[in-house]
Amino acid sequence: MKTSVAYDYRDMSKMAAKMVADAIRARPNLVLGLATGGTPLGMYKELIRMHIEEGLDFSQVTTFNLDEFCGISPDNKHSYRYYMCQNFFNHVNVKPENIYIPDGKAEDIEEFCREYDRKIEELGPIDLQILGIGRNGHIGFNEPADRLKVDTHVVTLAEETIRDNGSFFDDPLDMPKKAITMGLGAIMKTKKILLLANGRKKATIMASLLKDRHVTTKLPASFLYLHPDATIIMDREAAGEALERKTAG
Ligand code: GLP
Repeated sequence: MKTSVAYDYRDMSKMAAKMVADAIRARPNLVLGLATGGTPLGMYKELIRMHIEEGLDFSQVTTFNLDEFCGISPDNKHSYRYYMCQNFFNHVNVKPENIYIPDGKAEDIEEFCREYDRKIEELGPIDLQILGIGRNGHIGFNEPADRLKVDTHVVTLAEETIRDNGSFFDDPLDMPKKAITMGLGAIMKTKKILLLANGRKKATIMASLLKDRHVTTKLPASFLYLHPDATIIMDREAAGEALERKTAG
């Protein structure tokens, strides 16, 4: 696993966008795995700038999003589909028919999950997967647990995740308690992974991840150690404790 420390959030976002842009330029029909949350917003902004100013072309790119809240319709402003349209898709030329995001309102959610995995099998493998990390070490919505699921599945969100995401809702109590997430199987089958982490609130989990080099289901991001091509880019705030511990040790 490679790690890089960016100067700040802006620098991290630019490094991430450059990695995505280079991958698209090398392979215009890239299959790109996308994440939501606060972390990748700067990367999306930079990719939009590259599309407008440099002609970065997404017309042949296929995208798969990691996760979506259950019980929320795609046009709900709290859905991840809405987030993706507002923050990225509405501003670049990804074709709507090439966008895949789990449907939190699917009638038969189990069947939907199977179909999502079938689609990834059919159109994949995902060439480049962007990941954020939860403060508890989750990737996508694969929460710390005794066992981690391989396939796309419905997950009950951890208390900490509900607390962290609740502030995005007008009433934090409206925050769904369940979500659909791609499982560890699809994530581990991606050709390349780029995990981003920024800010002081991620420093403790990044230190746990980087310090002991353990693989444990209690820290789902630790599975990245087993991936052949995983890179972490974090800003200095997120890297803080990991760097301090490294220096101290
Ligand atoms: C959310 C998302 C994850 C994201 C993580 C971190 O719950 N499901 O995909 O990476 O938590 O979020 P943030 O980037 O806002 O810190």
